[in-house]
Amino acid sequence: MRRIIIDTDPGQDDAVAILLALASPEEIEVLGITAVAGNVPLALTQKNARIVCELAGRTDIKVFAGYDAPLRRKLITAEHVHGKTGLDGPSLPDPVMPLAEGHAVDFIVETVRREPEGTVTLCPLGPLTNIAAALQKAPDIAGRLQEIVLMGGAYFEVGNITPAAEFNIYVDPEAADIVMKSGVRITIMPLDVTHKALVTKARNDAFRALGTPVGVAVAQMTDFFERFDKEKYGSAGAPLHDPCVTAYLIRPDLFKGRFVNVEVETQSELTMGMTVADWWGVSKRKPNATFMGDIDAGEFFALLTERLARL
Ligand code: RIB
Ligand code: CA
Repeated sequence: MRRIIIDTDPGQDDAVAILLALASPEEIEVLGITAVAGNVPLALTQKNARIVCELAGRTDIKVFAGYDAPLRRKLITAEHVHGKTGLDGPSLPDPVMPLAEGHAVDFIVETVRREPEGTVTLCPLGPLTNIAAALQKAPDIAGRLQEIVLMGGAYFEVGNITPAAEFNIYVDPEAADIVMKSGVRITIMPLDVTHKALVTKARNDAFRALGTPVGVAVAQMTDFFERFDKEKYGSAGAPLHDPCVTAYLIRPDLFKGRFVNVEVETQSELTMGMTVADWWGVSKRKPNATFMGDIDAGEFFALLTERLARL
């Protein structure tokens, strides 16, 4: 059983990751959701996180608002990918459930300090601002965390927001640097693997064929957000970036990667936010993260579709 805090900037793919987690109570207990500015501003990501919880029928989930901007840089958003609401595609009602009281960073710190050591996993799906702020505010939580499983970065696949950098890392490179150097056990789902999890037409038809509000909404989200990747990469469909994090918690065997040194560029504007993964071990730098490179996409989509059918 993984007991997790999802840190997120919904975003259609974040929404699917959250739905998969909420549909998998045997493997995952969601202790809370923390919203961060990223794909769209915080006012929208905290609202979208609640919209997704209500879509899943889980108004009991606590959703906290976190940072509305990166630690040191100006916020960069991605409406060009996710639409102006961040959840363009389906028309979902505004949330009724309230935002939880208190700051996301305080919720993360309090939860990790309260729960037994080594039992909480952080699952960041957006810029790492909240996570880095929590580690800076309470360095003691680093030794208490079970793992950080994050979506971000790229190596062989190179960047999706600049030639060198993936969006989540690019938005807050300083935060990513703090996380990579935290000493916490880290598993990274970079574009190298998420670009192999493409929602082809057949896979999207399978979501729609569920015929449920969740299945139809997911199909509509994918129909919307696949445009960017299809135009840019000519890919066969939308890459389901963030659901790779949730699927790893349920079926780690679906993924293959290497335990290598991963560091983040925080100085050069040319390569700002690039994750430099020492895949071939050519540097003397200490390995600090499992960097995933491959996924069994067929099994991934079978798992996802089967679980979404439960909601
Ligand atoms: O680069 C892909 C990542 O950026 C995903 O997490 C997507 O939701 C956006 O946040
Ligand atoms: Ca995201």
